[in-house]
Amino acid sequence: MKTILLIGIGPGDPDALTLAAIKAIGRADVFFFLEKEGEGKDSLIRFRQQILQTHRGDRPYRTATSQNPVRDHAAKDYVGAVKDWHRQRTAVIKALIESEMADGETAGLLIWGDPSLYDGTIQHLRDIIDESSTELSFEVIPGITSIQMLTARHKIPLNRIGESITITTGRQIEQTDPGLITNAVVMLDSRSAFHRLEGSGDIDIYWGGDVGGPDEVLISGSLDEVAERIDQTIAEQRARKSWIMDNYLLRRRPKQS
Ligand SMILES: C[S@@+](CC[C@H](N)C(=O)[O-])C[C@H]1O[C@@H](n2cnc3c(N)ncnc32)[C@H](O)[C@@H]1O
Repeated sequence: MKTILLIGIGPGDPDALTLAAIKAIGRADVFFFLEKEGEGKDSLIRFRQQILQTHRGDRPYRTATSQNPVRDHAAKDYVGAVKDWHRQRTAVIKALIESEMADGETAGLLIWGDPSLYDGTIQHLRDIIDESSTELSFEVIPGITSIQMLTARHKIPLNRIGESITITTGRQIEQTDPGLITNAVVMLDSRSAFHRLEGSGDIDIYWGGDVGGPDEVLISGSLDEVAERIDQTIAEQRARKSWIMDNYLLRRRPKQS
């Protein structure tokens, strides 16, 4: 039996690792890295390596690295392109399991934030187990999500009394009736979809760039007043280091009675 540990490592703050994650890091014989193409992504790999150096102790370990397949961002069929990309990622992880670990060994995959939030790796492993003759089990070690880091940094609750919270993507925000949005966290937004709600007059935004990391930037206030500042900040960060990870909470103010 081979065992895979999907270890949530939080969104970039080395202090946000859980004790369970540190214990899991101590158990693995080998760590798998999927390298992303593109400038700046190496800092995410560096963060993972730093975590191993800090928390692994003296016990030696192996690493095995493969290229992370690149999604076709130009494809018209978004869902089809993502499914295709997931199939390729599944094949890459399967190949690592087959070639880089012996029966009885344990491999660790360090997952950004928490493995259950906008991350395909849990499904990849389920698919590998369904298709494969290899005896394989996996465990999920939860991590602090970028959402938890965002609300902690802004010192706000995720929801107000008795309120629901929507977790969604920039792509969805672009297609949703703005009137339906009362309390929503938005992720995976490369096109600043919050502009769709500008002019509403009653929306606050709590925005975070690289929350938890060394380049963290926080901006909050009335969306109409701060949207431009957020645009400028995103542009500055992209110019400086070519990428930024951001998320934000959109919250409609209650009607005055
Ligand atoms: C593929 S999802 C992974 C989410 C991750 N599993 C989590 O638990 O937060 C990547 C998206 O998460 C958000 N994200 C991840 N890390 C972030 C950070 N440090 N600061 C702000 N947003 C972050 C961004 O919206 C980014 O586009």
